[in-house]
Amino acid sequence: MKAIRLTACIALGLASLAMSGVQAAEKVILGSDASLTAGIPGTGPLTVEQVQEWLAEAKNHEVLDVQLPMGLALGQAQMKGLEKNPLTRAKVELGRQLYFDTRLSKDNTVSCASCHHPQEGYSRHTPTGIGIGGAKGGRNSPISYNRILSDAQFWDGRAGSLEAQAVGPIQAGIEMGNTHENAVKTLKGIPAYAMQFDKVFPGEGVTIDNVGRAIAAFERVLVTGPSPYDYQEAWSKFAGLSGDDLQDVLDDAETKADYEAAKAGASANPMSDSALRGMALFFSKEVGCSNCHVGANLADEQYHNLGIGMESKEPDYGRYVVTKVEKDKGAFKTPTIRNVAHSAPYMHDGSLLTLEDVVEHYAKGGHKNKWLSDKMVPLKLTSAQKVDLVEFMRACSGEFPAVSAARLPE
Ligand code: HEC
Ligand code: HEC
Repeated sequence: MKAIRLTACIALGLASLAMSGVQAAEKVILGSDASLTAGIPGTGPLTVEQVQEWLAEAKNHEVLDVQLPMGLALGQAQMKGLEKNPLTRAKVELGRQLYFDTRLSKDNTVSCASCHHPQEGYSRHTPTGIGIGGAKGGRNSPISYNRILSDAQFWDGRAGSLEAQAVGPIQAGIEMGNTHENAVKTLKGIPAYAMQFDKVFPGEGVTIDNVGRAIAAFERVLVTGPSPYDYQEAWSKFAGLSGDDLQDVLDDAETKADYEAAKAGASANPMSDSALRGMALFFSKEVGCSNCHVGANLADEQYHNLGIGMESKEPDYGRYVVTKVEKDKGAFKTPTIRNVAHSAPYMHDGSLLTLEDVVEHYAKGGHKNKWLSDKMVPLKLTSAQKVDLVEFMRACSGEFPAVSAARLPE
């Protein structure tokens, strides 16, 4: 009896595998497909009927073929977590609701968005996060976008995945102050949530791990669109061409179309001369920002000590607390430069208020301490060059995806 059932199961499994191989998955370009994060169609609180209708559509459960937008697309081969936690429209939408729902917190006042708000660059303009009852932590709220290119989360990388990270704040005393058991109980008691979990995670329903999976799926679609810097990069492949080389490009219909698109993109999204000079400095050997801010997301995903907060009597040792390796003392994860102009204040303790302050910190070679990164050296920058670096960072801003914070289950 058992054996027969097992065989049937395997046969079924194979059949569905074969089917998924045949079906062309829906292609979505993250960041530009607003329907992914617009919420279930309609207005006001989500009703059970609307959720039923949404869940009944097969399309919402198909695994999406995810493409990154121009710029970030250079990291297409480095996307994280999609095999273990495939993206579907229904899962992303469930994660969106959870991200904005204060009912995950102990006293119904705090959601993920309280500290990572779309209107404040998916961060908060306060030096440190402010949780339930006004509780303050010791670290600045980092951004929650472009996480699809990042494995280890938190300033010290202590969460190994976005899924692991997402369940942390729910029971952090100074953040949402809840327990996992209580959060799960609350969600089970809201019919529209219970139905979605049952359908998105068949046979499992509401569990804290599935809360993490859904929120992580939502965060993975939060990516930044092309910035003037990306348009400039695309154009730079052609900008220097002349004579026969240029003629070759224009003679071929396909390369001619690329040429014209790149030219139009750069002229519609121009970088100022100051930003162009800043770009050269940023990537130069002498200034060397790109020693650490590198790759598609302009972040190496490594840990470095810049001396931030090290003058304190009891400094935050950052990565060291996780690894207990001496050289990691005071080291923190390199954040992205993409859209960084939107998420002041800066650094793990929110101690630098503006991008100008950040550049000053680098110009003086960081703050001396025993564990300072050997990549931190005083820079000979004129005041015009400092302005140029800031202008370049501003030119690394692209559009955020359009995300609805409304339409939560009633
Ligand atoms: C009270 C403010 C607060 C709330 C609420 C909060 N966070 Fe955070 N978040 C922070 C702070 C502060 C950090 C950095 C903590 C650290 O590094 O130790 C952080 C870190 C993160 C990171 C890591 C980003 C990176 O670059 O490594 C992600 C992702 C994130 N939070 C998502 C969430 C999600 C999802 C929720 C809701 C379940 C949430 N946060 C709730 C303040 C908050
Ligand atoms: C040695 C590696 C390294 C180099 C070189 C480097 N950075 Fe950073 N950058 C980091 C790390 C690590 C942090 C976070 C440090 C912390 O919070 O303690 C950071 C933080 C920042 C931030 C704040 C981002 C935020 O979200 O808070 C900006 C802006 C920045 N760097 C710009 C630059 C510029 C401009 C240069 C070149 C002048 C540069 N960086 C050179 C590693 C580096």
